[in-house]
Amino acid sequence: MNLKELVGLESAKYVKDGMIVGLGTGSTAYYMVKELGRRVKEEGLNIIGVVTSLKTEEHALELGIPLKAIDDVDHVDLVIDGADEISSDFHGIKGGGAALLFEKIVATYSNEVIWIVDESKVVDQLGKFPLPVEVVPFGSENLFRHFQDKGYHPGWRRTENGEILTTDGGHYIIDLNLEVIEDPHALADELDQTVGVVEHGLFLDMIARVIVGTPDGPKTIEVP
Ligand code: 5RP
Repeated sequence: MNLKELVGLESAKYVKDGMIVGLGTGSTAYYMVKELGRRVKEEGLNIIGVVTSLKTEEHALELGIPLKAIDDVDHVDLVIDGADEISSDFHGIKGGGAALLFEKIVATYSNEVIWIVDESKVVDQLGKFPLPVEVVPFGSENLFRHFQDKGYHPGWRRTENGEILTTDGGHYIIDLNLEVIEDPHALADELDQTVGVVEHGLFLDMIARVIVGTPDGPKTIEVP
């Protein structure tokens, strides 16, 4: 079993009957969704899923997991999602799968957030992974130049065909190649205040628990 599958299966144990569960996006969350689908089918697990992307929606529907839109529930009990980087103080970068906006919205309305990562995602300091910034197409080339001027080494997120990728929310993504983020909160504040930025991939002070996949098994860390 690979490490992504290992943590996907482990995280599904936190899902109990009657819960409204946020279903994350990506190749790690895939295994959690698959396991929940199995439990729905084989064990009669009674849950409502709230998806964080069209891709996860498609997967969950194939598996027969009952779904509701985020606006049709008044809360989410628990969201389980992957991450691209997680620092030793439990902040993270997300959005490698281009779903950061919906992921952050679902996490914001969730009572608990669990991240599932293989051990390669755990870092001392955030920034090696390019930071995704979701932007409104209108004016985005100016915004791109603004990030260039700031020395953030921006790059457009593109599809396999080389076209600029459009997110599920109808926006573009500019990835910032920062190498090291010295002060994630200051950068998050700056991006929050930048006109044309819809959302960024800094997920700070958000998680209750992280499950790290190691060759010795899943290691669950409760965030203090
Ligand atoms: C999607 C995400 C993913 O959770 C993140 O990219 C991790 O993906 P994977 O599990 O495939 O490594 O943030 O927007």
